[in-house]
Amino acid sequence: MSKILILGAHGQIARLATHQLLTTTDHQLRLFLRRANRLTATDVTRETIIEGDASNPLSLQAAMAGVDVVYANLAGHNIAAQAKAVVQAMDAAGVRRLIWISTLGIYDEVPGAFGRWNHQQLDGGYLEPYAAAAQVIEASDLAYTIIRPAWLSNRDLVSYELTQKGEPFKGTEVSRKSIADLVVRLINHPEQAVRHSLGVNQPDTDGDKPSFY
Ligand SMILES: NC(=O)c1ccc[n+]([C@@H]2O[C@H](COP(=O)([O-])OP(=O)(O)OC[C@H]3O[C@@H](n4cnc5c(N)ncnc54)[C@H](OP(=O)(O)O)[C@@H]3O)[C@@H](O)[C@H]2O)c1
Repeated sequence: MSKILILGAHGQIARLATHQLLTTTDHQLRLFLRRANRLTATDVTRETIIEGDASNPLSLQAAMAGVDVVYANLAGHNIAAQAKAVVQAMDAAGVRRLIWISTLGIYDEVPGAFGRWNHQQLDGGYLEPYAAAAQVIEASDLAYTIIRPAWLSNRDLVSYELTQKGEPFKGTEVSRKSIADLVVRLINHPEQAVRHSLGVNQPDTDGDKPSFY
């Protein structure tokens, strides 16, 4: 049994991962989110809900005491500032293992027509802060795994393959359920993919755009 801190716990992938963690593991969960009244614990013996903002290192540090793994499912134009706060708080709290959700495209690793379409959609305010946040994580000495999902669907499907940093990104889309499954796998096997940055896509989804566009 490990203690897991989930940042951005009301996020869509975070809620899927929380459900999977509650139903398939015995880990203790700390659910950190803004406006905490949006979440209700389904198992009060295993879930602690903490209200806080991930750009505040002191709130983060308090939530991190005694935690084994931090899973950050954050978003927003200030995500690089949140990354700095998370690294600072983990250093101060002495927590080493971080799972960080990012996005495809932060290394300009998406090839071909889909890569160009991805730039058109995501340049000018989204890719840049996500790339800056990943740089903050990679410059730290934490045992991080950065996850770069393809375009997210809400399909009720777990099917994914991985690419490493330095390899061209594969496919166009992946389900949130698949990303949650990968997060749970890394929480259960925290020694895997340490200091890796993983592209994640549903196999056989190559194309110019995700199927839902
Ligand atoms: N859509 C796509 O196709 C796609 C593809 C690849 C990657 N991604 C990225 O993957 C990530 C996870 O996806 P998702 O669907 O789970 O996203 P999501 O539902 O938007 O979840 C992100 C969460 O981050 C929280 N958050 C933002 N700023 C915060 C702060 N300062 N303090 C605490 N929490 C904060 C938000 O909280 P509030 O509810 O309080 O706002 C939200 O619940 C996102 O960063 C998304 O951009 C998306």
